[in-house]
Amino acid sequence: MKKTLFTLLFLLPLTVSASSGVKLESADIDLTDNLSLERGAHHYVTYCLGCHSAKHIRYKRIAMDLELDEDEILKNVAPLGAGIYDQMHSAMNGHDAEKWFGTTPPDLSLIARSRGADWLYSYLKGFYSEPGKPTGVNNAIFKDVAMPNVFWQQQGTQEAVIKTVDGQEVITELKLVEPGQLSAKEFDRMVNDLVNFLVYVGEPVQLERQQMGKYVLFFILMFIVLAYLLKKEYWKDVH
Ligand code: HEC
Repeated sequence: MKKTLFTLLFLLPLTVSASSGVKLESADIDLTDNLSLERGAHHYVTYCLGCHSAKHIRYKRIAMDLELDEDEILKNVAPLGAGIYDQMHSAMNGHDAEKWFGTTPPDLSLIARSRGADWLYSYLKGFYSEPGKPTGVNNAIFKDVAMPNVFWQQQGTQEAVIKTVDGQEVITELKLVEPGQLSAKEFDRMVNDLVNFLVYVGEPVQLERQQMGKYVLFFILMFIVLAYLLKKEYWKDVH
């Protein structure tokens, strides 16, 4: 009985992911690249904020971290009418969302931490045409997701290449069948900037923390040396 349970436990992830053989692509994350983060923030407000809040961050904090003027962030990034101390709130209310999508779009403040940057990058690039769906698309990374492909104009239309492996239908790759407004390279950069921004939002103090970590390690090292010398000094008369 125990054995069967264990086998089932190990097989569970396999059965869930079997329908998609599309591998995660790597996002190129660089939190020191302020220009990329600013572009990402702009894309977030343009394409995501309509449905998803990121309520753990304020425009003021973004301006400070990206070394932007407050006027600049309000003009280039924040939606019209937002104040510098506002959190990134979506205008959509949960009740409408439930009616339209059957679920509420989650807050994305911590999504990069729960899902990981590569997952997000692949997910945003993973939409493909499936006419039977209410949104007209499905997603190779998040099967039957209720979210529409917000980048359909920029990316173009992708179709899934499906093969039968061991009697199961598996998506082996996604093929661009109708190009969008952006080239594949430009589109990758756009999505990468957005994911970079979401990683930053997940932990705005990450760079400071890493910087601080160096000082802390240096302090500990110095303290060990000092403690050792002190110990030697104290014990020298005991023997
Ligand atoms: C038209 C509304 C809408 C827009 C615009 C939108 N989303 Fe979504 N999104 C949804 C809905 C609805 C879900 C919930 C899907 C589900 O659970 O099936 C979702 C889910 C997600 C998830 C998965 C969350 C999870 O459960 O792990 C991520 C990530 C995400 N969206 C990112 C984005 C990003 C990034 C943008 C901007 C480029 C964006 N979304 C724009 C409606 C939207």
